[in-house]
Amino acid sequence: MQLKDKTAIVTGGNSGIGEAIVKVLAREGASVVIDYVARPDDTADLVKDITSAGGKAIGVEADVSKPSDIQSLIDAAVREFGRLDIMVNNAGIEKRHSLIESDEDAFDTVMAVDMKSAFFGTQLAAKQFIAQGGGGVVVNISSVHEDWPMPGNIAYCVAKGGMRMLTRTAGVELGPQGVRVVNVAPGAVATPINTQTLNDPEQRKKLEDAIPLGKVADPSEIGDAVLFVASDAGRYLTATTVFVDGGIMQSSVGL
Ligand code: BGC
Repeated sequence: MQLKDKTAIVTGGNSGIGEAIVKVLAREGASVVIDYVARPDDTADLVKDITSAGGKAIGVEADVSKPSDIQSLIDAAVREFGRLDIMVNNAGIEKRHSLIESDEDAFDTVMAVDMKSAFFGTQLAAKQFIAQGGGGVVVNISSVHEDWPMPGNIAYCVAKGGMRMLTRTAGVELGPQGVRVVNVAPGAVATPINTQTLNDPEQRKKLEDAIPLGKVADPSEIGDAVLFVASDAGRYLTATTVFVDGGIMQSSVGL
């Protein structure tokens, strides 16, 4: 067990990549706080699966676009499990709009859920790590689109690009206090965010042809990278991004 006696929070933890992260962290012995905004039943099922396998988890409803809700996740972790060691800022959405099509509401929503949540999630977790002593790690789930334009999904790219500099700057600021900050940047993953693409055979083929490893990722393949980053094996990683994309960013096929 690589995470025995550790406590983790995973935002957006009841579906997609977040759910896979919750499962792998719990399997490795971490006590996990699963944040969710919708589908309480899915959260309850996940908690049940983990506890019946001998693990520890609780579900907490919190809207991570509000810093006060993020603080309540941290308070719940400390209250239930005594401390916080791993903060995974995973919650994210996208609205497929180009620059010209974008409106203020959609822009604000994407920035709040994808970017502001990671900013304050990193800040509030770091304050907790520093107050309790012993360091800690923040894992921000960004995307290949922290670095790679996706026409028609511009607000998402702007938010993920912001996350890129959040991680680099916060990692530099917090290194001396023993706090690491790392991005894990998935490519295309079989999750609800990609349902439309994956259900359209033509779009799916175009996407998979562009991926050197030939397939869309299973969420567990992202979860395993998060485990590496969050565990002792990743102890020298900070202020950087680990891309987990099957090679798509380097592919000359393009989308
Ligand atoms: C986006 C997907 C996209 C994938 C690969 C992800 O971050 O959420 O919509 O298919 O990147 O481009």
